[in-house]
Amino acid sequence: MCGIVGYVGNKQAAPILLEGLSKLEYRGYDSAGVAVRDGEKAAVVVKTTGRLKNLSEKIDNGKALAGTCGIGHTRWATHGVPSRENAHPHVSGNCTGSGSGEVESLVVGVHNGIIENYQELKAKMERHGYVFYSQTDTEVLIKLVDYYYKKYQGGPIDALAKTIVRVRGSYALAVMFKDHPGKIFAARKDSPMIIGKNDSEVFLASDVPAILNHTRDVYYIGNLEMAELSPKEVSFYNLDGDKVQKEVTTIEWDAEAAEKGGFEHFMMKEIHEQPKVTMDTLKKYIKDDGKKKHIDFSDFGLTKEDIEGFSQIYIAACGSAWHVGMQAQYVMEELTDIPVRVELASEFRYRKNKLNKNALVIVISQSGETADSLAALRLAKENGIKTLSIVNVVGSSIARETDYCMYTVAGPEISVATTKAYSCQLICAFLLAVEMGKVKGLIDDKKYAYYIEELLSIPSKIEACLENKERIQWFASKYSNARDIFFIGRGIDYAICLEGSLKMKEISYIHSEAYAAGELKHGTISLIEDGTLVVGSLTQADLYEKTLSNMMECKSRGAYLMGITTFGKYDVEDSVNFAVYIPKVDEHFVGNLAIIPLQLLGYYISVSRGLDVDKPRNLAKSVTVE
Ligand code: G6P
Repeated sequence: MCGIVGYVGNKQAAPILLEGLSKLEYRGYDSAGVAVRDGEKAAVVVKTTGRLKNLSEKIDNGKALAGTCGIGHTRWATHGVPSRENAHPHVSGNCTGSGSGEVESLVVGVHNGIIENYQELKAKMERHGYVFYSQTDTEVLIKLVDYYYKKYQGGPIDALAKTIVRVRGSYALAVMFKDHPGKIFAARKDSPMIIGKNDSEVFLASDVPAILNHTRDVYYIGNLEMAELSPKEVSFYNLDGDKVQKEVTTIEWDAEAAEKGGFEHFMMKEIHEQPKVTMDTLKKYIKDDGKKKHIDFSDFGLTKEDIEGFSQIYIAACGSAWHVGMQAQYVMEELTDIPVRVELASEFRYRKNKLNKNALVIVISQSGETADSLAALRLAKENGIKTLSIVNVVGSSIARETDYCMYTVAGPEISVATTKAYSCQLICAFLLAVEMGKVKGLIDDKKYAYYIEELLSIPSKIEACLENKERIQWFASKYSNARDIFFIGRGIDYAICLEGSLKMKEISYIHSEAYAAGELKHGTISLIEDGTLVVGSLTQADLYEKTLSNMMECKSRGAYLMGITTFGKYDVEDSVNFAVYIPKVDEHFVGNLAIIPLQLLGYYISVSRGLDVDKPRNLAKSVTVE
């Protein structure tokens, strides 16, 4: 949640920090701040509430702040309201007002994450005479670094190591020490942070897009590790203060992939990238040996023998990734005969699970950093259970800690509301289901070849769904003032509805719910009023009539019906008020197509309400706190 950046080099730091923060604003956008040092002079701290542009205006796009070393932060409030006092950077010394201006403090720092024992630490620091001016856990962290630095006089790395041992929680921390001009020190545990380097500059950021205009060479700093950044050098240390050698990773995708490319919003751009990225993901795992195509997981080391050993699958994830899990559950169980259980990662991690030792735990996550998903993964590992992750961000914590990491090839996803990463996650889940079914002897060669061709047909069919967007735009303009919207379906259609409903509520702020169609009459139907929009997903032949009947029950109580079904099922127009057709595909994989009109519906309603599509209120893309 929060994004952090740092820069040391030979250029003016503030404009570079602002540029980096603008690429991270998706991580939090309720306040922002920077601290810059000009040579030996004390740090100058500037903080503002609201969007990053307020900060940019205040410091003339960075030109007003001299100095070539600095740190910056964009905040998503956890401890304390969004205010100038609570905005980062925080300082170790006493200060009046909001902590802005020139600060003589020994330590100035920014932090992403949560310090769980901050209250206990705050009391300790108060006993030592420290005075707090914010409600944040970060200020406690910065003051603790100051305390250990002064007490043991072992230097910055020693002070950071002692701090890390004392705090519980997660952090990506970047600090500057008054006695060490031209240097930034960093520490990390369970919150993302990368360090980039070119010949004369070193960068630090929560995510790769923030530094891509300057370098593609990055280091991944490990858990409980620290780093010392100076213009031409970066050194890494472990908790004992010993140097750690690290390999540079070269980022393959370019900065352009993280720009809007002519679309009004990132979300629309990412919706339109879905044909390409789903094909890229398919091609990564489907190989053609000249005679026939087959699914190949050698890339992440999942073997036939591994698959044969699994007698249970658990899927743990959050948000849209959990919706992928819900859909995967139906498809995997049917194609593999292996029982599948899907759980919200935040529940999975605290339930007294009786986990089957021969299980596979699948964790799905775009960012690879979601705190609850990471905890679920670790719980599985502690129980000696094999783990497989479906992750988009290369080198992220979940990707690194899992036994098998199946990457999606969605590229950087900027819009807070996920679209293309969700679609690629579905593709991965379907590939796993088909291959596991084949290994388990439930799918013969003919069926296997058929499934592969059906999967490969998805990208062009998504393209066909997108061609229909003007109709959805028109429909959205009629419903932009809706108060409630219900999404109903059964089986796979229900899982599709969960995602359609989330897209709607997160970006349009219209209350919406997804309901298993058969469950409506047990309560929800009392909410249907004259004109309430009910969207039905009708893609499964054996459940089509059942869901349609449930939709008709709503219509008789005044609802306006939108139905999504496949081309050819034109009789749907006898029942629904507005029909949307998608191309035919094997029914197991239809989620990749049916979600397109629902993404578009959420998008267009949000636009017609004049909302900030890419940065909806109160949300953040990467949720690295519990
Ligand atoms: C946030 C995002 C969602 C995402 C969820 C899980 O809530 O806004 O779009 O589905 O986190 O994130 P992950 O990175 O684990 O997929």
